[in-house]
Amino acid sequence: MGGKVTVVGAGFYGSTTAMRLAEYDVFDEVVLTDIVEGKAEGLALDMNQSRPVEGFETKVVGQTTGLDGSGYEAIAGSDIVVITAGLPRKPGMSRMDLIETNAKIVRQVAENVAQHAPDAVVIVVSNPLDEMTALTQLATGFPHNRVIGQAGMLDTARFTNFVAEKLGKPVASVKTLTLGSHGDTMVPVPSRCTVDGQPLSELMSADEIEELVVRTRNGGAEVVALLKTGSAYYAPSAAAARMAKAVIEDSGMVMPVCAWVDGEYGIAGVYLGVEAEIGREGVRRVVETDLTQSELAGLLEAAEAVRAKQADVQGL
Ligand code: NAI
Ligand code: 2OP
Repeated sequence: MGGKVTVVGAGFYGSTTAMRLAEYDVFDEVVLTDIVEGKAEGLALDMNQSRPVEGFETKVVGQTTGLDGSGYEAIAGSDIVVITAGLPRKPGMSRMDLIETNAKIVRQVAENVAQHAPDAVVIVVSNPLDEMTALTQLATGFPHNRVIGQAGMLDTARFTNFVAEKLGKPVASVKTLTLGSHGDTMVPVPSRCTVDGQPLSELMSADEIEELVVRTRNGGAEVVALLKTGSAYYAPSAAAARMAKAVIEDSGMVMPVCAWVDGEYGIAGVYLGVEAEIGREGVRRVVETDLTQSELAGLLEAAEAVRAKQADVQGL
């Protein structure tokens, strides 16, 4: 396959993403960067030493970067850049509590990405997700289709896992969907959920479904409360890595992602969690799906909540 992918931020999310991307063995090179001196280099060395055991050839390159942009030469020619730089939540914090700190970090990263990897598709991960995705598009000046956020793949995976566990079914039998924001206005979509093709509403009571909807919406906070020192990274990194794989393979896979919405569902001019066809150019098109009235109302509410915050980040 070939190609080059960069992961900015070598914390828990970034390092697990880099490892997954390398193990796919479809890229020539995975570049991992961080602002902490030696951290990315050390992790890259360790990952490369796993190659003979796991049997993959992709090389991992670690690079320390500075606030002055030093070190960013290493990302030149990247087909994809995944931005994970930024603080994670602590117990009791909402993703929105991170907005000012992470906006400064993400803006600095995005400006360097625009300068050194001007043709890349950017996958944003830093929180608050929808707002950081909008900020990255503004700071890079890239076309909207080349800047995507990761949230829906993760939230949908959590929903699927909860349904499978509750019914004692393999996760492969279960299909779920979440749309909206990666926050309080997340919209899990029970009407689109099936188990071996059977509608979820025939297998669970409305109360049981609502319980799993609420647990999905609080899925990130549940992990944060247990970990106490950071947020989730195994499921999140799986989600971002699969998006990057869909881009490099030009797969056309339809995935729930944070994408620029321009008229779909009667919503325009906002980054929002929707399903989209993913290919080499990022988002090929947003895919609309049938929603119930209350699900559509939830999506409209999410759009307005993100729109308000999206306007705020322009000044941060
Ligand atoms: P972490 O604290 O383990 O790692 C963050 C890394 O970013 C650190 O290594 C830090 O040195 C680095 N960093 C900070 N400023 C930088 C800069 N200017 N340039 C390069 N690197 C820089 O945090 P973790 O767990 O990796 O989470 C990263 C972000 O991802 C957080 O904002 C978190 O909230 C978000 N997240 C998003 C999810 C999603 O679904 N979108 C899910 C889970 C986490
Ligand atoms: C998560 O959903 C905190 O956004 C992070 O795990």
